[in-house]
Amino acid sequence: MKSSDVRKKFIEFYKSRGHAEIPSAPIIPLNDPSTLFTSSGMQPLIPYLLGEHHPAGVRLVDSQKSFRSQDIEEVGDNRHTTFFEMLGNWSLGDYFKNEQLPWIFEFLTKELGLDPKRLYVSVFEGNDAVPMDTESIEIWKKLYKDVGIDAKVGERIFTYPAKKNWWSRSGEPEKMPPGEPGGPDSEVFFDFGIQLGLHEKSAFAGEVCHPNCDCGRFMEIANSVFMQYQKQEDGTLKELSQKNVDFGGGLERMNAAANDNPDVFYTDLFAPIIAAIEQFAGKKYGTDTRETQAMRVIADHLKAATFMICEGLYPANKQQGYILRRLIRRAVVKMHQLGGAGVKSELGKAVFLAVGNIYDGVYFSATDAEFTQKAAILSEEILRFEKVLKTGMAELKKHESITGTVAFDLLQSYGFPWELTYELALDRGQEVDRDEFLKEFRKHQDLSRTAAAGMFKGGLADHSEATTKLHTAHHLLLASLQKLIDPTIKQRGSNITAERLRIDVSFNRKFTAEELKKVEDLVNEKIKENLKVTRAEMPREAAEKIGAQMEFGAKYPDRVSVYMVGLTGDKAPEAVAPGEYFSAEFCGGPHVAFTGTLGHFTIQKEDASSAGVRRIYAKLS
Ligand code: ALA
Repeated sequence: MKSSDVRKKFIEFYKSRGHAEIPSAPIIPLNDPSTLFTSSGMQPLIPYLLGEHHPAGVRLVDSQKSFRSQDIEEVGDNRHTTFFEMLGNWSLGDYFKNEQLPWIFEFLTKELGLDPKRLYVSVFEGNDAVPMDTESIEIWKKLYKDVGIDAKVGERIFTYPAKKNWWSRSGEPEKMPPGEPGGPDSEVFFDFGIQLGLHEKSAFAGEVCHPNCDCGRFMEIANSVFMQYQKQEDGTLKELSQKNVDFGGGLERMNAAANDNPDVFYTDLFAPIIAAIEQFAGKKYGTDTRETQAMRVIADHLKAATFMICEGLYPANKQQGYILRRLIRRAVVKMHQLGGAGVKSELGKAVFLAVGNIYDGVYFSATDAEFTQKAAILSEEILRFEKVLKTGMAELKKHESITGTVAFDLLQSYGFPWELTYELALDRGQEVDRDEFLKEFRKHQDLSRTAAAGMFKGGLADHSEATTKLHTAHHLLLASLQKLIDPTIKQRGSNITAERLRIDVSFNRKFTAEELKKVEDLVNEKIKENLKVTRAEMPREAAEKIGAQMEFGAKYPDRVSVYMVGLTGDKAPEAVAPGEYFSAEFCGGPHVAFTGTLGHFTIQKEDASSAGVRRIYAKLS
C-alpha cells in the first residue's frame, strides 16, 4: 500500500464520519513562543481543546507535519524519526471513547486490512488521582469478541502506568505545567511476529517481550488520548469543561504495518532518499547494521532539514536555526562514517529534491523554482561544515585522548556538538575519556533541558496577559507598516515572548529612523483610541475578500477565525471593506478586548533577517 493511500483513506474515513479536514500547520509554530516546533497534531489545537470554539466545528481530521527533536538520539533504529506525519482526528467535546475506539479499530482492520490477531492494545492502569480505564478495557474486549478473539487483560489488552499510558506534551501528570491539558490514552500496537527474531537480537533478549518492549517486534501505530484533564497551579488535575479525543498515529508507521515490514525506511516515504544515499556511498541499505544506521540518520535528518528550510528557516546558532544546523551537521558526520566516493553537498541536494518528489502536491510543488532553489541552502551549509570539520578534525588529531575539556573546546571553537566529537573520536580510534566526557555531556544536557524547560514557562501555550497584549500590538504594527510605508508589505514570520514581540516583514531595504518613529506613533495613537478588538468566524473566501492578512506559509481551512481591530459601522464583519477597520488578520488569538489596555509601544530595533526580509523588535511598557 502506498503512503498516499494510507493518508487519503484516513482523511476520508473520518470525513465520512462528520469530520472537517483542516490543513497541516507549519512545523515552525506561528505566534507560539512556548515551543520551537510543532511536535504533534494537537499542538495547533490547544485553544480549542481548552474550550475555544473552532471555526471548522467539533470534529476535525488532518495530517500534521511534526518534528520531535527529543527523539534525535533514537534515530538509527527501524522506526524512530525526528520528522514524521501525524494522522489525527479530534473530538472537541463531542464524541468520546465509545466512538473513538471502534472507529480506529475499524480503520486499522478494514481500511488498512491489518489482521486483528496482530493488534495488541494498552490502557491506563490508574493512579491516585485518576482510576484505571476500565471503560476502554470493556470496549476493546467487545471489539475483539466481534472478530472472534477472546481478548484477555495481560494477553491482548495490557495496562500500564502513566509513563506509558498518559499523554500530554510534557509527559506524565507530575511533569505537566499548570494550564497544560492531558489525559489517559489507549495505544494500538502491531505485532511483526516472533519469526523475525527481533526480540532475541535486541538488548532485551532474555526478558519477557510485551507491546511496550523496545525490541522493535511491536510497533505503536495509534494513540487515542482521552484529553479531559488540565493541570492546576496547586498541582492537582481538574476535569476540563469538555471531554476531548486527541488521536495521533504516525503515517510512516501505519504504512510499515500495512506493508508488514517493521522498517519505516523501506516505505515510499523514505525509499527514494535511501536510494540517493546508496548511490552516494556505493553501498546497499540493510547490509551492515552500522552503515544502515548511518543511512537512516542521514535520511531522517536531511528530510527534516528540507521541511524546515522550506518553511523559511536558515541554519543558525540559536533557536530553531540551531536545531536545523545540528541536523545537517550530524548527517554530514554520518556521511563520513559511511564513506564512499559521492560529493556530500550533492547528496544534500539530491535528498532535498527527493523529499520534494515524495511530498509533491502535499507539502511542496517539487518543480517550482521557489522550491528547487532552496536546495542550495542545504548544500551550502554542508560545504560550510565540511570546512569546519576539516580544521576541527586536525585539532582532534593533535590529541591522543579526548578529555571533557578538549571536547568542550571543540564545542566552543568549532561548533562541534558533543555527540559529534564523541562519534568522530571513536571513529578515529582515539581514546575518549568516556566518564569525564559523559560528565560534561550530562552537564550540558542538563543545561539544554533547563533551556528547553524555559520554553514551557507559563504553560505550554503561553497565553499570559503580557503575551496577549503583545500579540494585539503585533497586529497594530503590521497594519501601521502597511498604511504608512508600503501596502504590499507582508508578514514573513513572527515570535512573541512575554517581554517583546518580533515580526519579520517583506521589505527590500532598511527602514529609516523617521519611518519607524511614524509607525511607532501610529500604533500608540491606535492604543489611545481604545479600539475594540472583534473576533469573527467566516468562510476563508470572505476573509480574503475583506483583505484580512494571512500568516506566511500557513494553509487555512474553509472556515476561519479573523481578528479585527477598530471595526467601524454596523455591517457584519464578513461584509466590510478594507477601509472600515484598522487591522484584520487570519488569527486564532488570543487578544485583548480593547487596545487601551496595551500601554506604551516602543520599537526597539530593526535589522535584516534574510534577503528581502526585515526584522523588527518592539515592546510595551
Ligand atoms: N497527541 C497524541 C500523540 O502525540 C495523540 O501521541
